[in-house]
Amino acid sequence: MSEWLSCITCNRRYDISEIRYTCECGGLLSVDRDPIEGQAGLPVLFEQRRSSRKAIDRSGVWRFREAVLSVPEEQIVTHPEGSTRLYEREGLLFKHEGENPTGSFKDRGMTVAMTQAVRLGARAVACASTGNTSASLAAYAAQAGLRAVVFVPAGKVSAGKLAQTLAYGATCLQIRGDFDAAMRLVLEASKHLGIYLVNSINPFRIEGQKTIVWELLADLEWNAPDWIVVPAGNLGNTSAFGKALREARDWGWIRTTPRLASIQASGANPFYRSFRDSFTGRHRITAETIASAIRIGDPVSYDRAVAAIRYTGGVVEEVTDAEIMSAKREIDAMGIGCEPASATTLAGVRKLRASGVMRKEDRVVSVLTGHLLKDTDAIMKSHAGRSIEIEPTIEAVEKALA
Ligand code: F0G
Repeated sequence: MSEWLSCITCNRRYDISEIRYTCECGGLLSVDRDPIEGQAGLPVLFEQRRSSRKAIDRSGVWRFREAVLSVPEEQIVTHPEGSTRLYEREGLLFKHEGENPTGSFKDRGMTVAMTQAVRLGARAVACASTGNTSASLAAYAAQAGLRAVVFVPAGKVSAGKLAQTLAYGATCLQIRGDFDAAMRLVLEASKHLGIYLVNSINPFRIEGQKTIVWELLADLEWNAPDWIVVPAGNLGNTSAFGKALREARDWGWIRTTPRLASIQASGANPFYRSFRDSFTGRHRITAETIASAIRIGDPVSYDRAVAAIRYTGGVVEEVTDAEIMSAKREIDAMGIGCEPASATTLAGVRKLRASGVMRKEDRVVSVLTGHLLKDTDAIMKSHAGRSIEIEPTIEAVEKALA
């Protein structure tokens, strides 16, 4: 079976073993492949692998390997990741990607990008990050034995994510600037220093992240929901979801295509602004939001994400920080929990229902992208009243609970 890179703008093809992140024309790249033999029947094979003990069968990414990356099994760098739960609460479904090994959906793309890095003979890997990509990169690089260098906006990454990144052994460059500045710098540095870049501009990341959608569809026995809702920052996930849905539909795995709803924080909403302009122009802004994971003003996967929204008849919505934190408290109180960026989904669903875009009876799956413990500062601030210091006496307990 053969795979190659193709430009989503001019269709030019490149060999799969070429180290490049964009086309000569500047367009983004996509991994494409020849038709897979017995394509329509693959979901049966995917399901059978669930009962296997092999790491690559247990992985919620590599279980779908025929449609992810063609690579010898022994070269695969897997934890294994994925196989996350789908929760039903109050008539809504939540797919919790915070249940991945490093606590976010990033592991799904990272296992594929790191496998490709090893295959290309890379010695070092890099990314710009708001904290989750860096933690994931550090963990997978440690497993693969590669040097990890991460570029983060100084002072703008949660303590937990930064600690995780350092603990796994990455070198952390604190950039005096925002995520967008770190992103521009890592693009330049990776070319200059010959370090393999694994941000979601890297098309192999997208191949791994497609499996979030396939896994949730498999859990619904391939009966597609009406909507899939996802937070939108650098737009890697929105892009991956669009590709996953197009392939699932082309290959006959689903009969209807869910609509994508990509949700941005109103202080970090360049994609929403473009959607409002019917995608006639690209916006670049200075971003600010409490949801630090998606504090991004110039998303790199813009063109791929536009294609995803168009293909699925999707929408882009924006929600305020207050709406995000209120939705987060609701998700936490369901006993599920997530980090602030993930709560944009529920806040978005509430808003899209209120405006009539989403109907009450629509089946909706929201993707929770990161674990509750990824960002604890925001929680401690809003729940201080229920944390009470007392003397070690029964009287003090009674008084506190009265
Ligand atoms: N949710 C979480 C928890 C994230 O960490 C991110 C992105 C997103 C949503 C947005 O996803 O970029 O694919 O649109 N975090 C990146 C990082 C930027 O560096 O960890 P996207």
